[in-house]
Amino acid sequence: MIKDLCSVPARLLVIVFNLFFVFSHAQNYHAIEQVPAPNGGWVIRTKSSAYQLLVTSDKRLFPVFYGPLQQGENKKRTPLWVTRVEEVPVRGGAPNKTPLLEVVYNDNVRSADLEYVSGDIIDVDGRPALKIVERDRLYPLQVTCYIRVLQEYNILEKWIEVKNTGKKDNIKIQNLMSGSILLPADQYVLTQLSGSELGEFQPYHSDITPGLKIVENRLFKSNNNMPWFLVRPKRTAGNADGPAWWGCVHYSGNWRLIFDNAYERQYNYTLQIAGGINFWDMEWTLHPGEVLTTPKFSTGYTTEGAEGAARDNAAYVRHTILPLQHRHELRPVLFNGWVNTTFFVNDSIELAMAKVASGLGVELFAIDDGWFKGRNSSSEGLGDWEVDRKKFPNGLQPLIDSVHKMGMQFGLWVEPESVVTKSELYKKHPDWVLEYSKRRATPSRIFLNLAREDVYQYLFNALDKILSENKIDFIKWDQNTYLGDTGWPGAAPDVQKEVGIRFISNVYRLVDALKEKHPHVLFESCASGGGRVDLGMFSRMDQAWTSDNAMAVDRLFIQYGYLGALPANTMESWVLGNWNYQQNNQPSLSFKFDVAMSGLLGIGSDILKWTPEEKAIAKKKIELYKIIRPMVQQGTLYRLVSPFENNRCALQYNSNNKDSAVVLCYNLALYVTASYSKDVPINGGAQFLDQGSTVLKLQGLDPKINYRIKTAGDEKDRGEIYTGDYLMNVGIVWPTRTPFDSRILLISKE
Ligand code: DGJ
Repeated sequence: MIKDLCSVPARLLVIVFNLFFVFSHAQNYHAIEQVPAPNGGWVIRTKSSAYQLLVTSDKRLFPVFYGPLQQGENKKRTPLWVTRVEEVPVRGGAPNKTPLLEVVYNDNVRSADLEYVSGDIIDVDGRPALKIVERDRLYPLQVTCYIRVLQEYNILEKWIEVKNTGKKDNIKIQNLMSGSILLPADQYVLTQLSGSELGEFQPYHSDITPGLKIVENRLFKSNNNMPWFLVRPKRTAGNADGPAWWGCVHYSGNWRLIFDNAYERQYNYTLQIAGGINFWDMEWTLHPGEVLTTPKFSTGYTTEGAEGAARDNAAYVRHTILPLQHRHELRPVLFNGWVNTTFFVNDSIELAMAKVASGLGVELFAIDDGWFKGRNSSSEGLGDWEVDRKKFPNGLQPLIDSVHKMGMQFGLWVEPESVVTKSELYKKHPDWVLEYSKRRATPSRIFLNLAREDVYQYLFNALDKILSENKIDFIKWDQNTYLGDTGWPGAAPDVQKEVGIRFISNVYRLVDALKEKHPHVLFESCASGGGRVDLGMFSRMDQAWTSDNAMAVDRLFIQYGYLGALPANTMESWVLGNWNYQQNNQPSLSFKFDVAMSGLLGIGSDILKWTPEEKAIAKKKIELYKIIRPMVQQGTLYRLVSPFENNRCALQYNSNNKDSAVVLCYNLALYVTASYSKDVPINGGAQFLDQGSTVLKLQGLDPKINYRIKTAGDEKDRGEIYTGDYLMNVGIVWPTRTPFDSRILLISKE
């Protein structure tokens, strides 16, 4: 049963729990402590980290430490320790590394110079936050920076507000990032999750060499880079634990992460990491009295290495970022027919698929692209958000009623931000798209100019109408367009340069307004696969489509990367057919299910063609998924064995009380090292190179408790009993030796 914790009393319970946690931890850790002069400033503490700020006698604000908690006790640290990079570095004034703020004043002065005005501990949504106000020493610019503390997740959230406090002159903002952190001088290794469409979330590791490294997005889609980083000292980067800093930019437009390791004598190879909006091709005009606020940049520090960072960040997203309405609910098993039907959806095929899906145990039946007027190919219909009566003569509601009667929820795909030239919308409003007047945008999938209020209103009304007239439970919100030209010919020149920011603000406003009016609807973020997986989206979307590559083996790698940063209850994964390139290498249906079960299980296969045997496998797997789902979606993940380093992979999900766990084990290819002989079966032993230990050690269990461990789906297996200590320190034998085989191990307290 899907637990609904979003009733008012339940929500109150969550708030009371949060307040209790904050209060009790504030007692233990003093989340934010003011340090008196001399060497006055602030110490900010999480479970494992301390962040130290110093206010100097000439009213400058310097971050002077970010690292292990116990170091936060050192109140005498001199600013020379990592000197001369301010908490809000600016262009101009004292020398700094990468500026977070670059302004042009009305007299064309392009230099800012900030002084500390005040610091206060405030409450922001039930959490302590340090609010520091600074101002330019000469010009009417006020800069307020915030550091919000989420102690139990080792997270600091930073953001900045700039205000034009003048009466008559505008201030141009050429760059405003959300925050930066400063790491002690050392040699570091950066891990980023990068790749491409069909190959998202691949971990890349590189030395941070002297100079600048920038990881960014300029095209409004992040399939090739996710706004997340992990940095570890080179000497311990390969260890399971050790210091690790990580962070996320909470933004879905163009963003930037800058790793500034430029060497100047006064900087001493300290590493500055800055995150925020990418102002490339943009500028913002701040009129008198106006305020511009950045999105958040969250950063963390742990002593438990990459895996500790992954666990802390997943818990942070799951418990504090995801929309409260559905935060504590288990996510349903999904069927999506996109790969079967593409644009050729209609009443009867959908009904036929729904019948099979419900028989398998599917809980959410979704129609993807193709359901709206004139949508017969990717270059037709987009923008005309009305049901295609040729495909659904009576509208969608009769089909939805049938789906509901079968006990499933109903979901629908939309791509509101784009339009194609072969649409009624474009014919009526050719000026509603982003393009420069003399350079026509490409005819298929152009960005609508959502910075315009009339476009916003059109989209709100169209989508609200669909949601109001049909009992829809789930929306998959896609975005397949790369933004090239952000031209807005009719707008004032100042406003033209602000399109990027205005566009995303209205995307957020649109989702928020629809969610407010239709709070029961679950939202999934998608952009040609995993192109919009960021915490800006996750603060309003409940889950994400991870990648259009749904090949089980590829998927194992994509998902392993994803789970290094984000919670499993956001990662939608379908069981699919095979693509040709893997034809000699086709894993079984059972393997495909086991891969999809490590996140949010979905099916995208042509279930109308499934044999009774295949349906029986699917039914059993879905039943099993429903048993392990609370651990997978709401427990704690330990990534035990990486497919990037072994020819196998293992993921362990523990229940929060450590009473039970589930381990998903996958074998990949075997590599033959000697000549193959038909007398020696390949799984008989000696002929292959097995990359990785044949012993599997579990993690995060209670060492003193006895656990029974058995293979899921094996009726005859009564299981073996081991102590948690044994399972974690001695380990069990790797459960299968056959290539492309998988096992699911169930572990429960005796
Ligand atoms: C791209 C998505 O990633 C796919 O899953 C599918 O929804 C198509 N768009 C539909 O156009």
